[in-house]
Formats: sequence, C-alpha cells, structure tokens
Amino acid sequence: MSVTRSAVTGVGAYLPDEVVTNADLSAIVDTSDEWIQERTGIKERRRARPDQPTSDLATEAARRALAAAGREASDVDLIVVATTTPDLTFPATAAIVQRKLGAGVGVAFDVQAVCSGFVYALSVADGFVARGLAKCALVIGAEEMTRLMDWSDRGTCVLFGDGAGAVVLEPIEGEGATADRGLLGFALRSDGTKGDLLYVDGGPSTTGEVGHLRMAGNQVFRHAVINIAEAVEAACAAAGVAVSDVDWFVPHQANQRIIKGVGDRLGLDENKVISTVAWHANTSAASIPLALSVAIEDGRIKRGDLILLEAMGGGLTWGACAIRL
Ligand code: ACO
Repeated sequence: MSVTRSAVTGVGAYLPDEVVTNADLSAIVDTSDEWIQERTGIKERRRARPDQPTSDLATEAARRALAAAGREASDVDLIVVATTTPDLTFPATAAIVQRKLGAGVGVAFDVQAVCSGFVYALSVADGFVARGLAKCALVIGAEEMTRLMDWSDRGTCVLFGDGAGAVVLEPIEGEGATADRGLLGFALRSDGTKGDLLYVDGGPSTTGEVGHLRMAGNQVFRHAVINIAEAVEAACAAAGVAVSDVDWFVPHQANQRIIKGVGDRLGLDENKVISTVAWHANTSAASIPLALSVAIEDGRIKRGDLILLEAMGGGLTWGACAIRL
C-alpha cells in the first residue's frame, strides 16, 4: 500500500552580517571569552541590524531553501514560521514572509514553542502535507533573540544570537518503510508547571511591553539533558528505528555542554553530532535548520541519511523528530 509522507526537498539559511564576539560582550558586562567558551562553547553570535526584522531573515532563508528544492515562491501553499520574536504581535510573521516572497494566497501562520518551535512547526506542516492539504510547504525557524536580552544580565546576554533557517516539505509516495524518504516519527512534549525557569517578563496582555528573557540556567540545564534524551528515544521508537541507526544528530544549539550531556546519556558517537553553537550561539527556533543547512552545505549530511532533530526551550517545551532525508 502506498503511503504519503512529507519529504525535505530543500534547506536554506540566513545569518545577519554583524558578528558579536565574546570580547565585544566583555566590554559591556563582567564576563570573559574564557568563561563563555568553557561554560557554553560559544565563540560568537550574529546580530540583526535595527532595521532588519525577523521576517527579513526568514524570507532570505526561505528563498535559499526554495532554490535548493528547485521551487518558485508561486509553488508555496503553506508557510509555517516558528518564532518567539515576531515582527509584530500580529499579523503572523509567516503572513509577512508570504507577502515578501510574493507567494500568493495560501496558508500562513506562526508556531510559538520557543527553542522547540522548529520541531513543533515541522510536525504541524507534516500534518498538512501528509493529508494532502499542502503540496509545497515552507517551514521556517527565524529569531532575533538579541532583541529580548537584558544587556546588563551576564547570565543570559552572552548565550543568544539571531538567524533563520528553512526547509521545503513536499509529499512523496513510498511503502511506509523506514528506508523511504520523509518525516518518520515525532515526540513532542510540554510541561507548563516549569514555565518560570525560562520566560520573557513582558507581553501585550500583561506589561504591554516586549520584556526581557529571564532564566534559571542551572535548572534549565538539568531538565534539558534528561528531557531531550527521553524525546530522542521516543521519536526513534515512533519512527521504527534505533538510536544507533541514526546517521546524524542535529540538536538545538543552546550550549555545547547540553549537547554533550545528551550525547553521553544516549551513548552517541560525537562524530555524528552536528554542532554550530560556537558560531551561531542559541538562535532558538532557528538553530536546528541553521545547523542542518551548514552540515548539508559542507557535505556531511547527504540525501538518504537518517537524521534526528531535537530541542528544548521555554514552556518548558521539548521534542524530537526522525527524518530520512
Ligand atoms: N560571565 C562570567 N560569569 C558568569 C556569567 C558570565 N557570562 N554568567 C554567570 N556567571 C557567574 C555567575 O554569576 C556565578 O557566579 P557566583 O558563583 O559568583 O554566583 C557563576 O558564574 C556560576 O553561575 P552558574 O549559573 O552556576 O553557571 P553555570 O555553570 O550553570 O553556567 C549557564 C551558566 C551557561 C547559563 C548554564 O547554566 C547553562 O548553560 N544553562 C542552560 C541554559 C540554556 O542554555 N538556556 C538556553 C535556553 S533553553 C535551551 O535552549 C535548552
């Protein structure tokens, strides 16, 4: 029996030009390159220009993903943007991207699950594509986390950066085997009782202001390692594959110690783990498609590989997805 799955047919990314180094940050808060690298693995991050909204980064990443897929903006009938830093409270950043791309009338909306947003958005778009409701979907992770920083808080302002990544999803027919291309399995979770570990202290219905990111770093760290490892195993089980079958792990890039902690817990070969946190820092929902794009471009990840995406963020939310590329 033929099974319709959504396949990733193109990947693209965009980073703003300005590089902010650890040395740059040590000029504004009491920190050092040594501390940041040792505790996080981060060397530098990018920052968007003041006149460059999230939708600009998202649109450029989307154009590059469409080019990689050999598709035009006019082919796109679904746009899902995962972001926690939208241009405006509304309309959705996805609708703004739709206009900037010239994609024409279709479906466009945002998904807000913070750093897990890209995995959540993929699962939503997968539902549309696999049910025949979309033929060419753009799933974009785009963030300007630097806009949410309290630049006097050294515990958070050194951790985040700006960027965008995008994938094109298209329906593909197969036999339902794990060797077939497509999104094979998901595990998604959230636990609202832990919302106070990582949040932004503002919003339209409370303070009326954007607010700043607040985090209990130590506690987030502990939850991240345990939760992500469980979600990776659950996503592999849902996909019908073993963790040891996975060719490449593309984790959310929050912190090299979290990436290593998850790897150690699952017994992963570190040569199979993609890490870009040194250059991008934590770009929230953009970090996975950014890392994926880097590893496809440098030739490590290839068509047919089994890849595993995983993330955790504010909510708390977390999740994982197994994909045959
Ligand atoms: N530079 C120098 N010193 C610092 C800095 C800094 N940038 N930030 C904190 N410190 C100090 C603290 O003030 C503290 O000093 P004290 O002992 O005099 O009080 C000391 O360093 C240790 O602080 P801790 O918070 O215990 O440091 P820790 O080793 O836990 O590292 C960090 C902090 C890097 C935030 C870590 O907890 C972490 O990575 N947590 C995960 C959080 C994360 O990545 N969140 C991203 C969003 S969630 C996600 O994406 C998974």
